[in-house]
Amino acid sequence: MYRTHTCGELRICNVGQKVTLAGWVQKVRSLGGMTFADLRDRYGITQLLLDSPGDLGREYVIQVTGQVVERQSKNPRIPTGDIEIKVDTLKILNKASVPPFTIEEESDGGEDLRAKYRYLDLRRPPLQRALALRHRIGQEVRNYLDAQGFMEIETPYLIKSTPEGARDFVVPSRMNKGQFYALPQSPQTFKQLLMVAGYDRYFQIVRCFRDEDLRADRQPEFTQIDCEMSFVEQEDVLNTFEGMMRTLFKNVLGVDIPNPLPRMSWYDAMDGYGSDKPDIRFGMTIHEITDLVQGFGFGVFDGSQYVGAIAVPGGAEYTRKQIDELTEWVKRPQVGAKGLVYIRLNADGSVKSSVDKFYSPEQLAKVAQRCGAEKGDIVLALCGPKRKTQTQLGVLRLEMGNRLGLRNPGVFAPLWIVDFPLLEWDDETQRFYAMHHPFTAPKPEHEKWFYSDSKEDLEKVCANAYDFVLNGTELGGGSIRIHDADMQSRMFQVLGISKEDAQLKFGFIINAFKYGAPPHGGLAFGFDRVCALFGGQETIRDYIAFPKNNQGRDVMIDSPSEIDPVQLEELQIDIRKE
Ligand code: AMO
Repeated sequence: MYRTHTCGELRICNVGQKVTLAGWVQKVRSLGGMTFADLRDRYGITQLLLDSPGDLGREYVIQVTGQVVERQSKNPRIPTGDIEIKVDTLKILNKASVPPFTIEEESDGGEDLRAKYRYLDLRRPPLQRALALRHRIGQEVRNYLDAQGFMEIETPYLIKSTPEGARDFVVPSRMNKGQFYALPQSPQTFKQLLMVAGYDRYFQIVRCFRDEDLRADRQPEFTQIDCEMSFVEQEDVLNTFEGMMRTLFKNVLGVDIPNPLPRMSWYDAMDGYGSDKPDIRFGMTIHEITDLVQGFGFGVFDGSQYVGAIAVPGGAEYTRKQIDELTEWVKRPQVGAKGLVYIRLNADGSVKSSVDKFYSPEQLAKVAQRCGAEKGDIVLALCGPKRKTQTQLGVLRLEMGNRLGLRNPGVFAPLWIVDFPLLEWDDETQRFYAMHHPFTAPKPEHEKWFYSDSKEDLEKVCANAYDFVLNGTELGGGSIRIHDADMQSRMFQVLGISKEDAQLKFGFIINAFKYGAPPHGGLAFGFDRVCALFGGQETIRDYIAFPKNNQGRDVMIDSPSEIDPVQLEELQIDIRKE
């Protein structure tokens, strides 16, 4: 037997017992003629009392046998802090090179170094806690969905292009020369085929692959909790998955979330928060002030489609310098505003603004009132095309929320965003794109517009599509699907996909719909994102055992990398030299 106990297990009640432990040497130190070592495994740290330091080094793997004794100086910060092991025999199971960084709660290694030695970084408690949390959430998801009658069914990874809208990762086929598989961006089409096949409650915790620009909450391969249900309406889907999230919050975090969860239409989210994933932990909502500010000779506002503003609590204190800094901030390309107008509501009731020249104090007070500003606040206004300006105000709102400490990761404010537009017009390519994906059905009451050829009508069509949003992050999304072959063909037509192309790419699903497709709908949660937010982080990387860096590289295994010329030859692939 390698060990009788783990390194996190022994307590004062074990004093006197003879035990065997195995683990990694975290630290060795000599004190007043005695040698202490910290022995670590994933359960904790136990202090060893040794006769001599011997040749022990950091991260050596050892096995010790000895007696549990009460410590002279106790360490209240660790659960095993009352005891230590008076070691009789010590066996080195494996030596270790000096690790490139310290394996402790806080490491001294930079991001790149830790990524290269990920297996060492994974020894650190914060990462072990992250992966343990991920495991717990996964188990809770499976328990909940199993109890609800969902079946976990695996779907293939070597498929053809899926319609989630990112670029595909492709895999060349040796047996079918010149042909490629695509890795699934999601199991979307397969789960719909499973509905046609009669598996009316499907789920899968499944890897998805998207070749898109990476961010803190995006990885090229990530995991979804993917679900689909037959014979359901939107309400059924929302209830089922609100129940799942409520169970996760309760069982994993001990947190009660509101019952029922708030719901907000996509339009209200855009108008009030400048985002389809509003952070509702704080107010500071966006207000349109176009009607209050146009026609007074201020050309910038007069020439804009939309003027909107937020009221920042306590902002009247801002110095000239701070306001200039903020103006520069909104002009950065990441925000993209042209400028910033402010109205300061001084504590004495007077009003000061960057556009005093054009507006009377009463007019400015009206704007401030519309935004809900009080004495001591500052109103910040932006103008331009409506949605673009709202988005910029949304970014500014989040920044001010951060600066004011209103975005506490320990506070959870989930909600559903509903009533998304079905389609999104793109000026550049002069065509519609599916806002969610091309299998999303129009709301039945909007079908008349869906079959219209006018752009205005098509823009009005809404879908029974929904996102689960938590603290400004989209955790999941889904929709009620099209289950009729003709409607699906119409959708491809609206999206400018020719009949031939639709048949080539999605013929299998259009055909399947001809053989008795039930009404169905579903959604998928981003599992990595759920884990990160539950853990109080915005970055998903630490919740994935072996993630990629910002360039999509795994620097530990050094991938992607060139492949053997023989492999290329077999695949009949030539690499073009630039
Ligand atoms: P969608 O594309 O909205 O929907 O994806 C669902 C959820 O997956 C997460 N997600 C990601 N997480 C990490 N890295 C990424 N690159 C990434 N991309 C997406 C998000 C998102 O909400 N088939 C549909 C679902 C459906 O309609 O049922 C789909 O994939 O949390």
